[in-house]
Amino acid sequence: MLIRIPRDWEISESQATPEHVYLNRRQLLRAAGFLGVERLVAASAGPYPAKRNSEFTLDRPVTEEWAATGFNNFYEFDPADKRAVKDKVGSFVVTPWKIEVTGLVNKPRTLDLDGLLRTMPFEERLYRHRCVEAWSMAVPWTGFPFSELIKAVEPRPEAKYVRFVTVNRPKEMPGMVGAPWYPWPYFEALRMDEAMNALTMMVTGLYGKPLPKQNGAPVRIVTPWKYGYKSIKAIVRIEFVSKQPATFWNKLQPAEYGFYSNINPGKPHPRWSQAFEKVIPKMERRPTLLSNGYEKYVAGLYNGKEF
Ligand code: MTE
Repeated sequence: MLIRIPRDWEISESQATPEHVYLNRRQLLRAAGFLGVERLVAASAGPYPAKRNSEFTLDRPVTEEWAATGFNNFYEFDPADKRAVKDKVGSFVVTPWKIEVTGLVNKPRTLDLDGLLRTMPFEERLYRHRCVEAWSMAVPWTGFPFSELIKAVEPRPEAKYVRFVTVNRPKEMPGMVGAPWYPWPYFEALRMDEAMNALTMMVTGLYGKPLPKQNGAPVRIVTPWKYGYKSIKAIVRIEFVSKQPATFWNKLQPAEYGFYSNINPGKPHPRWSQAFEKVIPKMERRPTLLSNGYEKYVAGLYNGKEF
């Protein structure tokens, strides 16, 4: 997953060489420090690790990497078992990757992810992340302010919302085939001022490396003051529109999942309380903070009635 060059090299070698010889050779190469070469190539393939933005601090330790990358909601791969997602992403192809940016903008374009990786102002931010199901984590994302992309395409005044769509690849995503009743592909949206907010990040990395597939590779949105289902993964289309768009979970169960989905301890989900969060992996209970602790960034956006 890390990079293309060593993977091609491994494939050609394993095809050309009997397996026991190949395995021995790999062990030798590893012992000789060749994995160091792999890491060097990886570093030149993206902005990792990016400089950490010290403005964003945590009130808790960073979640261990194995936990954040081993407990995932990514229904396209497995809608039922969060621990199984990481084992079902193997066939998902994330390079090359293009994102179509379209709708009410002066400069619609198809972006190549490699181009974004070369040109955008990447940084690392420590953010809390809270799922509507109440589990939570705190992780270092690598990304850039989504407002940078918005400015580059010059939205017209009529553009009031931004709509996002996930890639639609049932052949690579076994959960889509196993659960055909969902309205695939996954879709989400933000109001324009939310999309422009300083917290809203377009993310391509986690723990100083490219995003693992199970965490939304190769590119996702992160909005830490909202429940996690707003942070759509594996994005291929961004559309600027005038009317509030439908969103995946709101369409399925409008009484349970609102458009705004701002984290609020005082507003229970119809089937469970949101007063506490459970921090993975030990599921320690902590009181939920209003807007997940990001109130100073987002208080001005709302009048208290948004659900
Ligand atoms: N994006 C897509 N395309 N499909 C999904 O099922 N799940 C959402 C969100 N983005 C989801 C998605 C939910 S419910 C959460 S909590 C977060 O991704 C989980 O992100 P993580 O696996 O990196 O913790």
